[in-house]
Amino acid sequence: MLLTRLTARSVPPGWPAALAPVAHLAERGLTLTSPVAFLVGENGSGKSTILEAIADVCGINSASGKAGTRYASSSGPETPLGEVLDADLTATGLRLVRGPRLKRRAFFFRAETLFNLGQNVSGLHGFWEDDLTEQSHGEGFFTVLERMVSGPGLFLLDEPEAALSFHSCVRLVGFMHRVARQGGQIICATHSPVLTRLPGAEIIELGDHGMRTVAWESLRLVDDWRRFLAKPDFYLQHVLEAD
Ligand SMILES: Nc1ncnc2c1ncn2[C@@H]1O[C@H](COP(=O)(O)OP(=O)(O)OP(=O)(O)O)[C@@H](O)[C@H]1O
Ligand SMILES: [Mg+2]
Repeated sequence: MLLTRLTARSVPPGWPAALAPVAHLAERGLTLTSPVAFLVGENGSGKSTILEAIADVCGINSASGKAGTRYASSSGPETPLGEVLDADLTATGLRLVRGPRLKRRAFFFRAETLFNLGQNVSGLHGFWEDDLTEQSHGEGFFTVLERMVSGPGLFLLDEPEAALSFHSCVRLVGFMHRVARQGGQIICATHSPVLTRLPGAEIIELGDHGMRTVAWESLRLVDDWRRFLAKPDFYLQHVLEAD
């Protein structure tokens, strides 16, 4: 483990303190016990807000990028939560996240800004060679993941399934499992019932209750998929207009 606990000093009122998971973090902190942790919850529940703040406090550009380069945060925290967040890093975590610049190993993979980042860094030393514009959306994701997310290091992933087919999600589970076995730590926001099934992963569900650790079988998102696949027409009738 590299990052074991997050706590927040007083979060100023307003956004994001008003988000229940952020209030929870401020009151009780968040302990991470597994090399892979998933953040799940509805759109707008606060997953990216928390990931961005973790990126911030770890010196990674909160708009996506890696630690210790010009694409890292250079002028301190950039998000309101990042400014008041504290991260407990193990000795290895301190070396890989805050150690000598060139030895740092931390990357924020953000589906929504990946292709912008690609325009800036493709071909640069320490990034990836391939031109993402010549690859399919999902192929580009794996190009970046395989180059930037490997071995010991802290890896923040925001919806890495966004461009992936079912089978590619299954491949990504194997990929994440390997990274964890190599000493990497992953914190991943996701809506995927496939990714969250990774054995041994910790799943943190965000919502109006704040944050809680939930077994895969009891996740709201798994229950929704189960019910949809069992009776798709029944499930959809609520959103289809009656003729
Ligand atoms: N800079 C900001 N100022 C004010 N509110 C914001 C800001 N950024 C995000 N929000 C709000 O905070 C809430 C949480 O957003 P966030 O992006 O963390 O959600 P999320 O869980 O990642 O959702 P999604 O699954 O859609 O990615 C949303 O209601 C959003 O509108
Ligand atoms: Mg998000």
